[in-house]
Amino acid sequence: MATEYKPPALPSPFSNTKPPPILLTQGAEAHLYKTVSINPAIPAALKIRPSKPYRHPILDRKLTRQRIIQEARCMIKLVREGVKVPAVLAMDWEGQGGDEGGWGGAWLMMEWIEGPVVRVVLEKWEAWFKANRGTMDEAQITAAEAPVRALLRRIGAAIAALHKAGVVHGDLTTSNLMLRTSEWDQEDRAIEGEVVIIDFGLASQSVQDEDRAVDLYVLERAMGSTHPLSEPFFEELLVGYREGNKGAISTIRRLEDVRLRGRKRSMLG
Ligand SMILES: Nc1ncnc2c1ncn2[C@@H]1O[C@H](COP(=O)(O)OP(=O)(O)OP(=O)(O)O)[C@@H](O)[C@H]1O
Ligand SMILES: [Mg+2]
Repeated sequence: MATEYKPPALPSPFSNTKPPPILLTQGAEAHLYKTVSINPAIPAALKIRPSKPYRHPILDRKLTRQRIIQEARCMIKLVREGVKVPAVLAMDWEGQGGDEGGWGGAWLMMEWIEGPVVRVVLEKWEAWFKANRGTMDEAQITAAEAPVRALLRRIGAAIAALHKAGVVHGDLTTSNLMLRTSEWDQEDRAIEGEVVIIDFGLASQSVQDEDRAVDLYVLERAMGSTHPLSEPFFEELLVGYREGNKGAISTIRRLEDVRLRGRKRSMLG
């Protein structure tokens, strides 16, 4: 049996907030908590990057700090440009709050986005579709696919807004896209809500077609492996990306090259 995972102690002041932060996810690099902001009535997401004990402490501090500052910088810029991303509420990059010369890690507190990640929405839809399409006629299938097509268009438009603001994400997956909605329940196939992009841990400032095309390609591949029934509608995402985006044509042309390189690489094994 697996031993129960025990996250490292929270840095001050979160080590004694009431109610205590709730651990939601624990990735390789970061721990995500739900907590409250300075106004306890307002929920917040807390992303903690613990220090890595196997790295030299000076190097570790420098890398952790660079990473969180880069992440916050991109988010602040995007909020200012009107792109839908969580607002930054507070952060610490100095690794204060620990004992004996500091805690070494860094944290970022941001606006809480109410709603599911797109991965969960598509998983539920695909499971339902798989179970029911056998009993549906062509018109019913078209109607069932419509909300997914519409969602992919909205995602394309959100990525276009991100790119137009001069930021590339670096890790676009359906876990890093959320739907802001308090309405969603698993049985509901309406798929409402505003697309919010999260997780700027690998983002950077770039206006290069190559970087933008790689962003789209990474998401296309991620969809192919996680959402095989939705991936055929990826073209809808590109339709949404193109709408009102003058730069889209050259980026999508570049995407063809990136796909070709990807295929060659996978043929070489
Ligand atoms: N602002 C937010 N509001 C609500 N939920 C969030 C928010 N930010 C993150 N989450 C949830 O926490 C999960 C993990 O967050 P995030 O993707 O930022 O971390 P990560 O993938 O572990 O980070 P990294 O890839 O930088 O190591 C998300 O998939 C989402 O479910
Ligand atoms: Mg993530």
